[in-house]
Amino acid sequence: LPVAFHDRWASGQLLSRGTTDLMLLRMFLAFPLTFLLVNGVTIVVGVVIMLLQDWTLGLVVLGPAVPVMVTCVIFEKRYAKVARLAQDQVGDLTTVVEESVLGIRIIKGFGRHRSQARAFRELSGTLRGTELRKARLLATIWGVIVTLPEVAIGAALVVGVVQVADGGLSAGTLVAFLSTALALRWPVESIGFLLAMSQEAATATERYFEVMDEEVEGAAPVAGASPAGGGDRGLRFHGVTFRYPDAPPGSPPVLDEVDLHIRPGESMALVGATGSGKTTLTALIPRLYELTSGRITLDGVDITTLSRQALRAKVAVAFEEPTLFSAPVGDNVLMGADGAAGAADLERALSVAQADFVYALPQGTDTQVGEQGLSLSGGQRQRLALARAVVGQPEFLVLDDPLSALDVHTEAAVEAALRHVLADTTALIVAHRPSTVLLADRVALLSGGRIAAVGTHHELLRTNAEYAHLMSGEQSGEEEGAR
Ligand SMILES: Nc1ncnc2c1ncn2[C@@H]1O[C@H](COP(=O)(O)OP(=O)(O)O)[C@@H](O)[C@H]1O
Ligand SMILES: [Mg+2]
Repeated sequence: LPVAFHDRWASGQLLSRGTTDLMLLRMFLAFPLTFLLVNGVTIVVGVVIMLLQDWTLGLVVLGPAVPVMVTCVIFEKRYAKVARLAQDQVGDLTTVVEESVLGIRIIKGFGRHRSQARAFRELSGTLRGTELRKARLLATIWGVIVTLPEVAIGAALVVGVVQVADGGLSAGTLVAFLSTALALRWPVESIGFLLAMSQEAATATERYFEVMDEEVEGAAPVAGASPAGGGDRGLRFHGVTFRYPDAPPGSPPVLDEVDLHIRPGESMALVGATGSGKTTLTALIPRLYELTSGRITLDGVDITTLSRQALRAKVAVAFEEPTLFSAPVGDNVLMGADGAAGAADLERALSVAQADFVYALPQGTDTQVGEQGLSLSGGQRQRLALARAVVGQPEFLVLDDPLSALDVHTEAAVEAALRHVLADTTALIVAHRPSTVLLADRVALLSGGRIAAVGTHHELLRTNAEYAHLMSGEQSGEEEGAR
């Protein structure tokens, strides 16, 4: 599913749909479904037998069937609503728990555990209320379903005894009739909670398929896309306009008619104030988001004509937030290459990213990192993310501020090693510091959703006041005013 989908959906909702809801469905298939069939058949056969034994008594017992069915229909509608509400609330609760666990350092660091616990208590209180409403509904339906047949059997007993006394019915037939009626008690009584469980399974299935039925991204690539002439090689943005799918209507687009050409083998630095859309622009190249309008071409081929797999094999990215998975260090880096990459590639990538610290870890490149493993510093994680980006020797390299967490000495070492990689790679590097910008052949300044200027670092320093301001030491943290 597209990244835009995940921007929109809370992870707890996805988790609860993939666990609790599927569990409800599984339980339904294992137990209530069988009993619905078995008990349904038992009731139908039993009723036929009773009618054959004595049809007047049969009708007396059947009397409550209509009110019971009406109650069931009303009940089902209400129960479906409450069951759905409860399942949605489980999703919200899961989100709070998940975010609290992921953000545990911030919660502790800011002493927010009380407010987080309060949020949890409030949500679980609401959920408890909803579950109690479910229980009350179930109690009502059960009351109706148990009482009415019981009354009917009592009435049948009275009518039957009168008939036996009148001589119209043998005592044996009456006993046989009542035994049949009593045998139907459990099947009838079970209908209440079987219906409840079916209803829960139905809403759970609905919730599950709300996710599964989401539109999967993009159409199949158009066959026969051929590279255009030599002038169009490299990475090129043609009038790219982009607005986030969830942005309020009428808001200005993040990127507005961006034109940019990065020549083959060239590295281009992308500079811009915070929030100017640098990360957004880099995310468009591996097609994490679909353009609102315009085209991006790689060597003249529109990226929308390439399959995602082919595109992502050509383009490697290192994002601002270096995410590592619960896996050995080596596997985390080799994720960036297809299956063919081996120990030599790993070694080369680690040396480009100056990630030699890996060899000093307890089990070297086999050391587990991520959630269940060793914790690494921000700079160490950044270097591993950088190694992941370069390990596959991609044709196009996109780096979103890859060196921001490094100290100056490590940064200089990474830059020296990166220079070799960049020599024959077409690269776009988001940068903040002059030292990183100097890695690139040219610099593009992103401002107000457009490329405001392109040139070498020194040209732009001389000719562009905004660029000079961004690159000077005195820039104040937030640069929103520059937009
Ligand atoms: N997933 C998203 N959904 C909606 N808006 C977003 C999303 N990510 C970023 N934005 C908005 O897009 C703008 C540009 O953000 P970004 O590309 O991250 O800036 P930069 O990397 O230059 O600091 C910001 O105004 C931000 O609020
Ligand atoms: Mg950014």
